[in-house]
Amino acid sequence: MALETRQAAEITEKDTSYVLGTYKRAPFVLVRGQGMTVVDAEGREYLDFGSGIAVNALGHADPEIIAAVHEQLETLGHVSNLYHTAPQAELAESLCQHSFAGKVYFCNSGAEAIEAAIKFARKYARTHDGPDKTGIVAFSGGFHGRTAGALALTAREQYQAPFRPLMPGVSIAPFNDVDAIRAFVGPQTCAVFVEPVQGEGGVNVATPEFLRALREACDEHGALLVFDEIQSGMGRTGRLWAYEHFGVQPDMMTLAKALGGGLPMGATLLTDEVASAIEPGDHGSTFAGGPVAARAAQVVLKRVSDPAMLAHVEKMGALLMGRLRELGSPHIKDVRGLGLMIGVEMDVPVASVVQAGYERGVILLNAGENVLRLLPPLIVTEKEIDRLMEVLGEIIPH
Ligand SMILES: Cc1ncc(COP(=O)(O)O)c(C=O)c1O
Repeated sequence: MALETRQAAEITEKDTSYVLGTYKRAPFVLVRGQGMTVVDAEGREYLDFGSGIAVNALGHADPEIIAAVHEQLETLGHVSNLYHTAPQAELAESLCQHSFAGKVYFCNSGAEAIEAAIKFARKYARTHDGPDKTGIVAFSGGFHGRTAGALALTAREQYQAPFRPLMPGVSIAPFNDVDAIRAFVGPQTCAVFVEPVQGEGGVNVATPEFLRALREACDEHGALLVFDEIQSGMGRTGRLWAYEHFGVQPDMMTLAKALGGGLPMGATLLTDEVASAIEPGDHGSTFAGGPVAARAAQVVLKRVSDPAMLAHVEKMGALLMGRLRELGSPHIKDVRGLGLMIGVEMDVPVASVVQAGYERGVILLNAGENVLRLLPPLIVTEKEIDRLMEVLGEIIPH
């Protein structure tokens, strides 16, 4: 056995012995990454078409992120939110200048951004309409995270069942069903949470009519429209925010994943109107918006909001989607998505395709049992897409 193989086996054994088993892991140990490529403990290279689940928008080991993080750590690493710091203030300004928002609340993950949005929506409703307007509407196929509040919005039986009772006041409406909205959104609703493009639920793109109808229903009943762009935001769909494709603006938006450039960071963006209901002490977090993560996020936001980068995402997305449609397997039922957020729906479970991808040096993701999900770094080029298509040609069942 090669030394590397022994080390990989040891690490796997330690991991299995000591890390709580909440994940099913791939059968290799990753040790380093560069650009589109990651390398395992045995020296095998993989083209990364998953980006650590939509995180590594700029690929692995981006020199500008490394330099910013390094410099910030040497200057001021952590001070808590009791003090002003420039990286946080400047990142918030930049996020507001690039979006509908007037204020930003920082946190450390996607689920935390959702928890914050739940609290802000309830506080806003209580301030304006009293204590009874607490209802939250979310959608079938949606995914908003695993913490207690976010879990109540994530209508997946296997995720929710062991943890009941869930946070009360949540109802789950059918996604993309305009006619059903009326039955769910009413005077008791304080917020409607929706992903403009559902990620975990199978890469389902909302229709413009659906998002417009949600906006109208929210306006009619004084409810807040919350776009969960934790997966679809930060340039992933070829626009900085997916909502830009639909001509509908939210009252709040949740971000995480790509925002921190690989460091844990989330954010809840709010209009000034919603923000006016929030006071010191309503919410908070020790690490949130820390200088190091904020410096990394400044680099990511600057790069992914560059029109040239967004045009590249659109071009690569169209190329990849076109090539996937040409694959011609009778088992492929649909190829869908926006930009570089792409799902390939099959009539067979895709777990074996993901596994076969590993064996041929390509990292793929699933979204549910039957959808293969592609979320490459936004820096992907035609060369890597060519290689992916070669591999998929071999491993997609015909
Ligand atoms: C749309 C969406 N919302 C929320 C989350 C939860 O984010 P996190 O895993 O950072 O808590 C995810 C994660 O996959 C997501 O895709």
